[in-house]
Amino acid sequence: MPAQSVSSAALADVEQVSGPPHESADQRLSPRDSPAAPHWIPDMTEQAALAMNKPEPELTEIFHDEPIDLKVLDYTRERFLDGAVEDGMRDLLPVLQARRLKSSEPEWAEYVEACLRHPLRELVHQDPFTLRAFAKPRGYAGDADLLDFIYGREEGWPVPADTTDLGQKIFHFTTGSAACEAVRARRGFIADLVDQVAEEFTKPHVLSVASGHLREALLCSMVKRRRFGRYVALDSDPLSLEEVQRCYGSHGVQTHQATIRQLLTQRVELGPFDLIYSMGLYDYLQVPAAQRLTAALFELLRPRGRLLLANFLPGILDVGYMESYMGWKLIFRTRQEMLALAEEIPLAEIRDIRLFAEDNQNIIFLQVTKR
Ligand SMILES: C[S@@+](CC[C@H](N)C(=O)[O-])C[C@H]1O[C@@H](n2cnc3c(N)ncnc32)[C@H](O)[C@@H]1O
Repeated sequence: MPAQSVSSAALADVEQVSGPPHESADQRLSPRDSPAAPHWIPDMTEQAALAMNKPEPELTEIFHDEPIDLKVLDYTRERFLDGAVEDGMRDLLPVLQARRLKSSEPEWAEYVEACLRHPLRELVHQDPFTLRAFAKPRGYAGDADLLDFIYGREEGWPVPADTTDLGQKIFHFTTGSAACEAVRARRGFIADLVDQVAEEFTKPHVLSVASGHLREALLCSMVKRRRFGRYVALDSDPLSLEEVQRCYGSHGVQTHQATIRQLLTQRVELGPFDLIYSMGLYDYLQVPAAQRLTAALFELLRPRGRLLLANFLPGILDVGYMESYMGWKLIFRTRQEMLALAEEIPLAEIRDIRLFAEDNQNIIFLQVTKR
């Protein structure tokens, strides 16, 4: 999705590049309306109505009955054991999503406990993607090795060798989910932007904040052809930066180990940049830290430099599965909440501010250009 021509500066100058406004989470809720609703739901609804000897109740009422919510776990497990992984996952995901969106935090926590006690857990954790997020070997779910499972699908990287047949089938499904498609689209979007900046500026200086393995570099002709002045990968994780150094160090990419806290509280000498971007970080930042970081990064830009930030939009189908079996919780942001991230930047310094959503409306980008 190429950026379009720069318009005049103002926070109100927001452009929506693709598609209609995103549906709110609640608009997506009704399992009855969903073509993906599990086939057993109508049966359970009828049984419950008979048992209660009254007209068929609202589906959500039944849906919140714990035995029926747990039934989907039994059902999915049976499908998995029959080898029908895709069918099982297609039924499970909307049920978990609906349950997540309808529940209060304590209700959801209780339901997640029930999910994790259920024998389905032993099956879904045969998927190395689900298990790594859940196990958090680096202390949080979305580490750079986990992201490599997502990018590996388009890079042709193999599933880990010791994965069971069932685990491979689940891996194929989970890494093909809407959320993972969005992460791959995000990488492609940034790679295109980096190349575009290399066209516009001679030898640009580029900074990736929370770079992980900097896999977008694989897609950038700017990197292969060394058409940059500096390309810095900043991350708190030394292992991720070792991988960046190993893969792209010979192309001139530099690494810088620092935490966001250090960026905000210490004087980190990084030098001015023409492009600063961050993908997969803001989904974890609370508003005050996110706003402070946005203003601090904006200060590191040269005149006409761009800051680009990505975040998941609310409403992804995978939310219930991610938060339960993967233990992976993100902070979702609406368009208005994305705009609010720029509130600590002095308005007079902003040339242009814009919002883009990737085609499937799962990830949103905020781009702020300096005067
Ligand atoms: C979801 S990954 C995203 C990696 C990469 N940007 C991508 O999109 O593939 C999040 C990255 O943020 C880094 N990170 C997490 N907390 C951080 C912090 N406080 N300071 C700096 N980096 C952090 C992690 O080490 C990890 O590499």
